[in-house]
Amino acid sequence: MKKYLVTGAAGFIGSNFIKYMLRKHDDISIVVLDALTYAGNLGTIKDDIDDKRCFFVRGNICDRALVKELFDKYGFDVVVNFAAESHVDRSIENPQLFLTTNILGTQSLMDVARAAWATGKDAQGYPVYREGVRFHQVSTDEVYGALGAEGYFREDTPLCPHSPYSASKASADFIVQAYRDTFHLPVSITRCSNNYGPYQFPEKLIPLVINNILEAKKLPVYGRGLNVRDWLYVDDHCKAIDLVISEAKDGSVYNVGGHNEQRNIDIVHLIIDIVRRQMEQHPEYRKFLPEDKRGDISWISYDLITYVSDRLGHDLRYAIDPSKIKHDIGWYPETTFAVGIEKTVEWNLQHRDWVDEVTSGDYQKYYEHMYGHRG
Ligand code: NAD
Ligand code: TYD
Repeated sequence: MKKYLVTGAAGFIGSNFIKYMLRKHDDISIVVLDALTYAGNLGTIKDDIDDKRCFFVRGNICDRALVKELFDKYGFDVVVNFAAESHVDRSIENPQLFLTTNILGTQSLMDVARAAWATGKDAQGYPVYREGVRFHQVSTDEVYGALGAEGYFREDTPLCPHSPYSASKASADFIVQAYRDTFHLPVSITRCSNNYGPYQFPEKLIPLVINNILEAKKLPVYGRGLNVRDWLYVDDHCKAIDLVISEAKDGSVYNVGGHNEQRNIDIVHLIIDIVRRQMEQHPEYRKFLPEDKRGDISWISYDLITYVSDRLGHDLRYAIDPSKIKHDIGWYPETTFAVGIEKTVEWNLQHRDWVDEVTSGDYQKYYEHMYGHRG
């Protein structure tokens, strides 16, 4: 029975990861550690924590005493660190929080892990650890900075982050690699491109656009909408992490992406087309629209788009070269963008309660603050 500590699993990717792992493996147990910030929601994982292999603990990854208590109690073999402040726009508003959680939080977890896993020292004085342990850091392609019209991020591309978010993630990657070099801590890192799918908080582009259409709100596109992101369905990311943890050598770094570059404006157009088609084919879905908007739906059109002022330091293009993970581990993405985006629109239609729950409270204030002045 392999014992996992999965941090940040009440958020988007972490929750999909624990669902994936519980489906895929019988012989595991999972403790979720999550601070339940605005981005974490217990409702997202309520069915998973009903499973007797999965426990939930509310807490901060920076709280070393708590993390140590959990290590003492559960004897983890693997730590998968998803916990982070993850939204670039918020990092521009409040960099400090990003540095604290994303850098110092990662360091805290590793300090507790190396103390818990050490069994002695080798002849050169390096710590030696219990067999089979691993600290896995969930990183992002944003650590590499931005590309022009050509080229791809490879694992040997120098890190050159631009936003406070990506700088904090790059710093965490450096600290993880420093712990590997200095303390021989068994680590691995995955750097994935933009994810989309179920349970993504609707501040990120894809769920924001879907939900704004369903609420008949304008669709804010930054700048001219020409920035490019490389989108991956979240389950494909989860599969990659699982494979890297079980099959990759200690100290490995893998890029994860599915050769799916899209301009923001094209994604917004596509989502508008899908929502309008779904409303035409399934008139019963119109109950998800505002009451006075259910009859004539010709308003679901590109006219909903509003070009707003650009994000500061907006990276032009991200694109992953995934050949290393494909070659070494045999990973490849299973969900095409056409299928994944359709499923994601459908999921958002079917989960209005979840969307209402996570966007209640302070999110409305945040939304007004972000978009109220950006026309
Ligand atoms: P998210 O914002 O949806 O979820 C983050 C989770 O971490 C939330 O549940 C939150 O409550 C929790 N958290 C935040 N601070 C914490 C703290 N101090 N202690 C404990 N828990 C805390 O993020 P996501 O999109 O699921 O991203 C997860 C990870 O994957 C992040 O590390 C992110 O950098 C990385 N990543 C994200 C993407 C993407 O497209 N979303 C792509 C590549 C990598
Ligand atoms: P986002 O989902 O925030 O992911 P990231 O910034 O980590 O790539 O944004 C994806 C792209 O969409 C990015 O180029 C910014 C742009 N964007 C908009 O044009 N409008 C929006 O309302 C948001 C949230 C993002």
